[in-house]
Amino acid sequence: MSRLKRSSPTTTEAGGGLPIRRDVAGNAMLHAGGGAITAAGLEGVLALAIASAPTGMVVADPNLPDCPIVFCNPAFSKITGYPPEEVLGRNCRFLQGPGTEKDTVRALRRAIAERQPITVELTNHRRDGRRFVNELRMAPVFGAGGELLAYVGIQHDVTARKRAEKETLKARREAERASKEKSDFLAFMSHEVRTPLHGVMGTLSLLLDTTLDAEQRAYAETARRCGLTLLETVNELLDLSRIEAGKLVISQEPFALAEVVKEVLDVLAPAAAEKGLDLSASLDHLLPARFIGDASRLRQVLINLGDNAVKFTHRGSVEIRLAALPDGRIGFAVTDTGIGIPPRLRATLFSRFAQAEPTGEQGGSGLGLAICKRLVALMGGQIAVDSTPGRGSTFFFDLPLTPLPESGSPPARLQPAPTNGEHPPAAHGRILLAEDGKANQLVAAAILRKAGYTVELARDGAEAAAAAESGDYDLILMDVRMPLMDGFAATRAIRALQGSRGRVPIIAMTAAAMPGDAEKCLDAGMDGHLAKPLDRIQLLAAVERVLESRPRRPRAPAPADEPVIAAPLLDRETLEELRAAVGPGRLPRLITVFTQETQERVQRILGLSDHAAIEDEAHGLKAAAATFGAAALRDAAKALEEACRVHDENGVRRVLAGLSVLAERTIAAFPGQRAQQDARPPAKRG
Ligand SMILES: Cc1cc2nc3c(=O)[nH]c(=O)nc-3n(C[C@H](O)[C@H](O)[C@H](O)COP(=O)(O)O)c2cc1C
Repeated sequence: MSRLKRSSPTTTEAGGGLPIRRDVAGNAMLHAGGGAITAAGLEGVLALAIASAPTGMVVADPNLPDCPIVFCNPAFSKITGYPPEEVLGRNCRFLQGPGTEKDTVRALRRAIAERQPITVELTNHRRDGRRFVNELRMAPVFGAGGELLAYVGIQHDVTARKRAEKETLKARREAERASKEKSDFLAFMSHEVRTPLHGVMGTLSLLLDTTLDAEQRAYAETARRCGLTLLETVNELLDLSRIEAGKLVISQEPFALAEVVKEVLDVLAPAAAEKGLDLSASLDHLLPARFIGDASRLRQVLINLGDNAVKFTHRGSVEIRLAALPDGRIGFAVTDTGIGIPPRLRATLFSRFAQAEPTGEQGGSGLGLAICKRLVALMGGQIAVDSTPGRGSTFFFDLPLTPLPESGSPPARLQPAPTNGEHPPAAHGRILLAEDGKANQLVAAAILRKAGYTVELARDGAEAAAAAESGDYDLILMDVRMPLMDGFAATRAIRALQGSRGRVPIIAMTAAAMPGDAEKCLDAGMDGHLAKPLDRIQLLAAVERVLESRPRRPRAPAPADEPVIAAPLLDRETLEELRAAVGPGRLPRLITVFTQETQERVQRILGLSDHAAIEDEAHGLKAAAATFGAAALRDAAKALEEACRVHDENGVRRVLAGLSVLAERTIAAFPGQRAQQDARPPAKRG
């Protein structure tokens, strides 16, 4: 706020030689000698401007008792409905009444006492009693000697704007509530639809494995195909609702590009082989082999496009091509020699419910391309199509994936693995199946037994935990929603067990496939997550994967007084990936931050007695240790977190006893900690 100066106006030179005059308030005015506005005339012009201003203006005199208004402009009268004769001589508080915000009035009082300017919004009353929202700017005016001369108030009626803001907010809240209701409804429906579908699909798989005549087999095949379409639609609906509710988070993890493409080819291979189509992929030799990005979403987009390509191609080929684009992005193309897309359908191809063939004879919800478009956009790219009816189509998209340096080149050409549709005989193993649904229990057990596994059953979480405590299993398949004790609680109870029984691999089988479910399962200590309904191939593949990759677990329980820690101090591969992700120069600094933070955190943990507080700290320690490949520390933190969660006092004490030493050993194991300046990469494994 410029101070009001009583000194006489001054004149200086402007750039173009014109005289600049300063008025009594210090405002710059151009006083063009030959112009119509004289110095005296300018004050008249200013008075006119104040009189015609759309905002209310008042001047109050703080040197008179109760700081009365000594001037008000016509806009003030218009806004408030009070003529000047009912305003002058009164304190402006006469505009206040019921609904005027007391805190705001207090703030005004304080500003006046401290001679400070202030801007507030407060409820005022017009002369006719109607309320309005007044955006008031009030400021003191000082004389040349610093003495307080006046207060100026500028009023702006913002009732309409506030009402619009309120309505927008209300509409947004309502939309958010509706969207949440929709998500909750979908989560509920997904469970309700997927659980029985699981039973239907599994029973059909079993039925198709029995001796059927040709007619019966055809009916069962049709039922299975329809079931799969229904399942796809449910999954697509869930995906779309997740994306639209902004709940889908794109992960940033290292992955090998060729592996993703190979997996896509393997998924598409059976359908392509059935139609006699050539299926292949080619990768530009300029591409690095490994990247950071969301491999599973990329896989989903490629499978979706590839699936469509196979669906709409009756002869010829489907090819996936990957190229390094000049701007550093990766270009993906899925090309088919199929029926093509008529121009009139191309504009709406990526919107919901659009189908290349409006008859819908090819099945599907028509949501696939809408999902692809949104997923590609979420990953920072764009998708487009080029098509000639009768000749084929190419879907293109580009993604800004971050390459991992020195990761080599991917293979130039990929083919799907030959498939005869049959699952190879699986290795033997003892599996505990915890599932309360009779039909699902029957189906999963039959599939597993048929594949050669020994299966034992538990009907709820409590039974599962008890069985895991008394028997050695190679794997537990755990339903999440079960009576008495749910799958999360049962897993936590199992993870709190001593020795190898506490480390048995656990895979969740759940029909709840909403965002965060997989994380919840991992947080509870499970090793994986399978969404129901499962088909035979998926179930057996997951079981086999776990049983094949399981570490040689000692059968004898670990000594009771030692924390159960089998992982190495430092997982160099993780550290190496982190180095590649952040850039080699930054790693030493990050390690220093991590080690300092770890020391502080361990000290904090050792000073705590409350389980919930220790659990929070242990959770943080687990996450940080996992990021930096401090595997043993990560496992200890995880064990501590779990022990706190189930209030296992002995377990907590056991981990705490060795935590400080383990942290020190871990810190010493980091390369940078021995030689701080050493920024060379740690030795590669093997
Ligand atoms: C120049 C000036 C303009 C003011 N304009 C308003 C106004 O438009 N509406 C209002 O509620 N209060 C206005 N006030 C604030 C009140 O006059 C008063 O200062 C406030 O209610 C706090 O003091 P009190 O506790 O003595 O009432 C204005 C004050 C000044 C000095």
